[in-house]
Formats: sequence, structure tokens, C-alpha cells
Amino acid sequence: MSKTYWVETYGCQMNLSDSELMEGVLASSGYAQVSAPEDADVILVNTCAIREHAEQRVLGRVAELNRVKRERPGTLIGVCGCMAQRLGTQLIERAEHVDMVIGPDAYRSLPQLIDQAARDGGGVVDVELKDSENYEGLELRRKSQVSAWIPIQRGCDYRCTFCIVPFTRGPEKNREPDAVLREIEEQAAEGITEFTLLGQTVNSYRYGDWDFPRLLRAVARLPGVRRVRFTSPHPNDLTRGLVEVMAEEDAVCPQLHLPVQSGSDRVLKRMARRYTRAEYMAKVGMLRDAIPHIALGTDIIVGFPGEDETDFEATLDLVRSVRYDDAFTFRYSAREGTPSTRMDQDWVVPDHVAQGRLERLIALVREIAAEKNLAEVGKVAGVLVEKRARRGDLLQARTDTYKVVLIPGPEDWIGRYMRVALTGTSGATFTGFPVEP
Ligand code: SAH
Ligand code: F3S
Repeated sequence: MSKTYWVETYGCQMNLSDSELMEGVLASSGYAQVSAPEDADVILVNTCAIREHAEQRVLGRVAELNRVKRERPGTLIGVCGCMAQRLGTQLIERAEHVDMVIGPDAYRSLPQLIDQAARDGGGVVDVELKDSENYEGLELRRKSQVSAWIPIQRGCDYRCTFCIVPFTRGPEKNREPDAVLREIEEQAAEGITEFTLLGQTVNSYRYGDWDFPRLLRAVARLPGVRRVRFTSPHPNDLTRGLVEVMAEEDAVCPQLHLPVQSGSDRVLKRMARRYTRAEYMAKVGMLRDAIPHIALGTDIIVGFPGEDETDFEATLDLVRSVRYDDAFTFRYSAREGTPSTRMDQDWVVPDHVAQGRLERLIALVREIAAEKNLAEVGKVAGVLVEKRARRGDLLQARTDTYKVVLIPGPEDWIGRYMRVALTGTSGATFTGFPVEP
């Protein structure tokens, strides 16, 4: 009888990609995926540690999954990813129904770790960050037939004072360019046309003579590659050379998620982001000069220690001047061990103040996005049809600027490029219909 698995994923695109890798490792050693956790011999939860709230949610979910274990004794529960890395054995002490704690550099050994847990009745922990793990030679089980995530870098060498990632993912490790290009060629040969290069500071990529602009250009020119995206770049590594490649290569999409975190120089400095507001704005200017229709997104944190009303106003003002197409907004969450937790206690921004700022920021971000999107209604856009939409009988398609368009159409349009008329917007997403099927 073959063994079965169920994988749940929380957090960022790197985690979604890692789950494809975990599933690939399991599938290669004879595991079959099931359609509900109740039917699985092994349940893996791939977790995020970026904010306290993210961790609470996962702990709640894992407790819920314990119900499955009670009804189906012998089921193994594993917690993987950043929370596993951060908490290690503590996780098993805090939640005794957790059988395995598996950090991001241990996925290659999943089958062995599972066997060990089955033999010993749980208690398996592997959270060693391994310099030697290069993630090569593992078969991924990809979710989409249309677009693929390609991790080109793991870990992070920046030390933003709020961020747990350098602790959970270790130092920056870049993949051999040949391996990246080969993987993309293989996927393109299978019919995938859109590729997103992934890394914590993806554009700091360097390998021998290769830097990120060179790799991006090489990817864009591979046969069968029609769209290339990358996320997330660090503003400091956004060079003129990179902007040139983005502008010159047709396959590179006119879209960028460029985390800013704050619009106040004082706060940026305390965050150790290593750029000023003016420097960030200059990068935005460089992008818009070269690619006038580029869509921009960002990440913003409110309530960082010491942020006062003037600092926050500076963030609102920056958002007004950049006019982002989209932004992920977060309330600062103190992560144990990060430098920001050791700042002056007087600097702590009270919850209600941070919450108030978050709400004002979200309202502004939404207002601007809606204005920009409303101005697109009535135009025609090129889209790639990605999948069946969650809602009813519509298909989900995406513009090169990464905006979602819901269109009516048959399932066999998935994977096709088409021109659609944008007929309406909810503010965030569009509705449309094909103008040339
Ligand atoms: N360089 C990575 C950042 C990963 S974390 C990337 O862009 O891929 C994603 C976002 O989470 C960060 O950009 C930041 O805005 C937010 N974040 C990170 N640590 C946080 C914390 N302690 N509290 C609140 N938000 C945080
Ligand atoms: Fe985190 Fe800053 Fe790196 S946000 S992932 S330490 S660039």
C-alpha cells in the first residue's frame, strides 16, 4: 500500500515554491497526494515566522489537525519552514501532537525523517542550516501548468532590524546560473511560459561572473519564455544596468514589487534598510523613466519602534507620491532575537496607535489603487489565462502588470495569451472579456 501525504502552505512565494519541492521529494519516494488531511499518513504544514500573528494562526491550525490524528492514530504531523527553524524543539514541547520539526534545509531528507518519526513515535527535529544544501537535483511537483516559480537564491545577507528571515533562512546562497537556466528550459519545453525568479533580495544575486541583470537577460532570451518576473528586489541592488535589462527585454514584465517599509528617513535608518527616502524615490524615478507604464507594489510596516505621527505622515506622503498599484501593509511585530526588540522601551508604539495608522494607510493604498485601476477600464490588455477562478465559471487571467482579470471562457483557454477588454473593476481586480478568442 502506498503512503499518502497532505501539505498545507502559509506565507510567501518562497514557501509555496518550497512546498512544491517537499511534494516532489515525497512523490519521488512513493508517496501519493490525497485530497483531504483526514486521508493522509503524513501531514506537513509549511509555516511562516514573519509576524507573531502568522505563527498564532499556524499553531491554531496544527491543533485542529490533531483531531485528524486522534481519529486516525499513526498519522504523523510535521511542522516545516521558518517557524520550525525558529522554534525547533520548543515546538514539540509546546505542542506535543507535533511529531516532526523540519527546517528549510532538511527537505531532501523528508522520507528518512518521516520513517524515523514512524519508528520512534515522533520527536524528530532537523533544523540545521546547511551550507552544503544547494537544493539541486530535486524534482519539484509544480502546481501550475502555466507559470513556474524558480528559486534562484535562499537566505538573506541584509539585517533589517525587524526581520527574522536572516535567522530562519540563514545567509544568502545563490544557485548556479546553469542550473537555473536548465530548469527553466525544461519547464518551457513542457509548455510553461511564465517564470518568476525568487529570492529574499533576488537582485543581489551573484555567482562568479554572473550578476542579476545578466541572469535576467539570459532567462528572458530562452526559447519558450514569454513572461519573466522576479521578487522581491532590494532597492539598494536595483541598478541602472538592471533597469536597462527590464526595459530592453520584451519578456520581462513591466511590474515590480519594491519594498520600501517606511517613508521616514529616521525610521529607515533604525530599520537598517540602508537607503534614504530620496534614494528610494530616485530608483522609482529611474524605473518610470525607462518603463513609463510599469506597475509598482511595495511592503510597508507601521508602528516600528519610535515611529511618531510625523514619521507616519512621511510614509503616507511617499505612498501619495509613488502612487503604488498595490501594497502589502503590516503592523510591526516584535520578533524575538531581532535587533528591533532591543530598542528603547519608550519607543514602543501602542497597539491602538499602530492599528489606527494601519487603517489609514490601507485606506490610502486602496483609494490610489482603485483610481489607477478605474482609469484602465475601457482599455484592452494582454493577459495570460492562469486557472479557473474561485468564483463560479470564470477564468482568472493576469496582465503583464500582474493585475487579475476575471473572464468568461472554457477551461482549455488556460495557458493561453489573449487580448481582453477591461469592462469593470472592483478596485483591486478587473472583469473583462476576450476581444479576439
Ligand atoms: N526581502 C524579503 C522580505 C520578506 S518579509 C522579500 O521581500 O521577499 C516580507 C515583508 O514582511 C517585509 O518586506 C516586511 O514588510 C514585512 N515584515 C518583515 N518582518 C516584519 C515584522 N517583524 N513585523 C511586521 N512586518 C514585517
Ligand atoms: Fe528581511 Fe530585510 Fe532580508 S526584510 S529578508 S532582512 S532584506
